[in-house]
Amino acid sequence: MSEVSRRQMLTAGAMGAAGIAATTIAQQVQANTKVPIASETKTNSQGKFANKVVLITGATSGIGEATARAFAKEGAIVHFCGRREALGNKVAQEITAQGGRASYQKTDIRLEQEVKAFIDTCVQKYGRIDIAFNNAGVESSPKTIAERSLEEWLNVMATNATGVFLSMKYELPHLLKQGGGVIVNNASVSGHVGFATIAPYSASKHAIVSLTKVAALEYADRNIRVNAIAPGAVDTPMLRRALAAWNTNFEKVSQEYPIKRIVMPEEIARGVMFLGSDDASCITGMDLDATGGYLTK
Ligand SMILES: NC(=O)c1ccc[n+]([C@@H]2O[C@H](COP(=O)([O-])OP(=O)(O)OC[C@H]3O[C@@H](n4cnc5c(N)ncnc54)[C@H](OP(=O)(O)O)[C@@H]3O)[C@@H](O)[C@H]2O)c1
Repeated sequence: MSEVSRRQMLTAGAMGAAGIAATTIAQQVQANTKVPIASETKTNSQGKFANKVVLITGATSGIGEATARAFAKEGAIVHFCGRREALGNKVAQEITAQGGRASYQKTDIRLEQEVKAFIDTCVQKYGRIDIAFNNAGVESSPKTIAERSLEEWLNVMATNATGVFLSMKYELPHLLKQGGGVIVNNASVSGHVGFATIAPYSASKHAIVSLTKVAALEYADRNIRVNAIAPGAVDTPMLRRALAAWNTNFEKVSQEYPIKRIVMPEEIARGVMFLGSDDASCITGMDLDATGGYLTK
């Protein structure tokens, strides 16, 4: 592999499949993470998001899970989805056991009727949606465009791009009806720059950035803000699969980012919470660079 293509793959953020020993990666993360991550704290029912209803797609693991836990700890009621039922129930039970409020609904984000049912159920259960985090996504395997199957292209686009479109399509009527709300879409560094061998992922993330801008303009004067967040390399199952696929490690990937470390999912959660809060009251249509400086290079 040439140095250029290796670098492109390393910085892509999340692709591939296979298995690196978790302990090795955990050690690498520890070695490369210089910012302390808040340790487990008890739920504060009167916290910053007390009684806010937060809807999250894809919170059975990774960034979505960390964001669900973070909002719940600040007093929010979280309704989330994902396909892996056992994990979804586990996350909801653990949040509840810590004094938080969360419910899981099995949903495949590629299927219109399931997305609609997920969003409608949230409103039926809790009366409204204050903040929606459209996060569910999948990586693509490392292949050039000529090597890529149409099937994989369509699946990644259906999950990442159409999934965000469908989520907003069924969230927005509720937000309009209740007089406002906030949407945050999970994009990526790959939504801004091209990386060789990840066409479906990169195209789908560019689509999310575009959808975010369009939605922001369409609803800006109706008290609805729509933003995205652009993570770089974040320690999640998706990134671990990517590292395995490229036979690389956290240390090498870290060097591609000005921040020189892998970001933790809890840090992305904080960015989502900022965009979802009144602190971002005049911010709409932007994609928050949470890469640790990659997009400034
Ligand atoms: N990790 C990174 O370095 C990085 C960088 C930039 C952007 N991102 C973005 O962050 C988001 C979360 O990824 P992650 O890194 O946290 O990886 P992850 O742990 O693999 O999480 C992906 C989440 O999306 C859900 N999902 C995938 N396909 C779905 C479907 N068809 N229907 C419903 N839910 C689905 C998964 O749930 P089920 O499998 O249970 O369905 C899971 O909860 C993605 O959009 C990803 O592109 C990640």
